Amino acid sequence: MISLDVNYAGIRLKNPLIVSSAGIVGYAHQIKKAEDYGAGAVVMKSFFEEEICREAPTPRFKILKRGYNGNSSSTLYSYEQASELGPEEYAEELSKAKSLVKIPIFASLNCVTPDMWNRMSHLVEEAGADGIELNVSCPHGVHIMEGRALKDEIKKALEATQEVRIPRIVKLSPQTSDPMIEANVVEENNGSGIVMFNRFTGLDIDLEKEAPILHGGYAGHGGAWAIYYVLRWISTVYPHLHIPIAASGGVTDGKDAIKCILAGATTVQICTVVILKGYEVIQKINKEIFEFLDEKGYQSLDEIRGKVTGKILSYKEVDRRRLYMAYIDQEKCNQCNICYKACYSGAIEKRDGRIYVNSNCVGCGLCAELCPRRAIELVGL
Ligand SMILES: Cc1cc2nc3c(=O)[nH]c(=O)nc-3n(C[C@H](O)[C@H](O)[C@H](O)COP(=O)(O)O)c2cc1C
Repeated sequence: MISLDVNYAGIRLKNPLIVSSAGIVGYAHQIKKAEDYGAGAVVMKSFFEEEICREAPTPRFKILKRGYNGNSSSTLYSYEQASELGPEEYAEELSKAKSLVKIPIFASLNCVTPDMWNRMSHLVEEAGADGIELNVSCPHGVHIMEGRALKDEIKKALEATQEVRIPRIVKLSPQTSDPMIEANVVEENNGSGIVMFNRFTGLDIDLEKEAPILHGGYAGHGGAWAIYYVLRWISTVYPHLHIPIAASGGVTDGKDAIKCILAGATTVQICTVVILKGYEVIQKINKEIFEFLDEKGYQSLDEIRGKVTGKILSYKEVDRRRLYMAYIDQEKCNQCNICYKACYSGAIEKRDGRIYVNSNCVGCGLCAELCPRRAIELVGL
């Protein structure tokens, strides 16, 4: 029988999908909704020690779209820092959520002083939190905005919260030269797991006003495009780490979730896709994960976890021989010229109103990727 359940830092989840910390899971009724749509667990919206961050400006969302050659991409650009709740209120809300749902709930804390790290960790443990995410990685929180050394912030947070008995999982930032360094710091300082990653900090500019858009400052930015960075680093860290990894960033469907697990993740967090599509998407993603296992004949996610890591070649192992060349199917080509304009090897030429590939072709594959009619393929030399 196929089972989606996972063991995440000693906590059993009925499936690997966690609704990650954000305004969609700030209150008990929203956490209940996430459970109703099949979430395996929830990380409550972050509590921030800095009171000023508990009030977000409006508007705080913008969907930025870019694209060319018929390709499109979007960014959810946002400024939503903290839960509006103060320490006791946050713990009360967590306790209320615990009374409404059966799934595990992680508190998320973003503190600055050791005293507050310590106090909040106790408060949320007493309120019934199953675990805590230590959020030193908010793209517009103090740790990142002040460019603090993350490994020091991680050590400080883990040390100050060490008295609690529930798992403490550190949410890492992608804004670092080598996330492996922070991942090791978490393990060495008795962290129970890591989340890879929070979002990047971005800036967009209103050309009319020649000033930042939205609230006039930096904001968090992420989107479907973020997953490739996430996969890259999970696959690097996974073989060296003994604590579990939660993937976070750019997951939009079941295939993305499976990719995260193949790279080494134990759980998969989703946020932007829920914001943009509603809680129902949780159900759909779980169904797609199940279908993948079913089609491939797997019984559990343990069978595929980290499976890709052994197949990633180092730069020295990559086969650099010239093996292919582009071929244009004249029946399908409508001379749109996209490949002609893009080829920087001078390998696409026009003759008698048609487009051909000449011997300058290096087999890079760009033209085949760009062709809107799929009229170009790479053929072996
Ligand atoms: C509007 C918004 C609010 C967020 N708030 C928090 C937060 O309070 N604490 C936190 O740790 N991460 C927060 N995040 C980050 C998400 O939990 C998640 O890690 C990130 O968005 C990447 O995942 P995604 O691509 O699925 O959105 C927020 C993200 C968004 C878009």
